[in-house]
Amino acid sequence: MTAETDRERRGTQAIRRVVFDARAVQRRVRELAAEITEAYTPEDRLLVLGLLKGSFVFLADLVREIRLPLHVDFVVASSYGTATESSGDVRILYDPSSSLEGRAVLLVEDIVDTGLTLERLLARLEARGPASLEVCALLHKHLRPMAREPRWVGFDAPNEFLVGYGLDYAEDFRHLPYIASL
Ligand code: IMP
Ligand code: MG
Repeated sequence: MTAETDRERRGTQAIRRVVFDARAVQRRVRELAAEITEAYTPEDRLLVLGLLKGSFVFLADLVREIRLPLHVDFVVASSYGTATESSGDVRILYDPSSSLEGRAVLLVEDIVDTGLTLERLLARLEARGPASLEVCALLHKHLRPMAREPRWVGFDAPNEFLVGYGLDYAEDFRHLPYIASL
């Protein structure tokens, strides 16, 4: 399947180009999962926290490749900006009900753009006393230096607006199995 023939999913909505195709994404997810499996032990009681909504596809594929006992929970944060620009005003709409105390917490996020969402969220989560707190981001635009870089990054992303594999433009395109630019 090429993106040009992917009409069933996109309808008449156009994408500019496929940036990471489905095979490249799957291969990279397996590599990340292998590294994460190596980095923890069962005693760490790993809690994988998916930042909704953008991480849902990545998270689902990632956890199924991690060969460790783990729990999954979610965080919902909302940054109020325009559809394509982050405002930096991040609100946490759903805090994980799981206790983070003494556990290894791995926050999974779709894309680091300005990194503002991540910085604010990490501070909030750190306050809940996890034994460790790491980030696995599918994509990273490297737009500015961050106080804390994600430990795992799937792909360095071009500075374009990306959709697919969980990422949306006004809620469209989340279900594309590849990552494309608009
Ligand atoms: P940040 O706070 O600027 O790092 O980005 C916050 C959120 O904006 C990300 O978690 C995404 O949900 C969304 N976002 C940023 N860049 C893109 C993009 O290129 N495509 C789709 N969503 C994006
Ligand atoms: Mg989004």
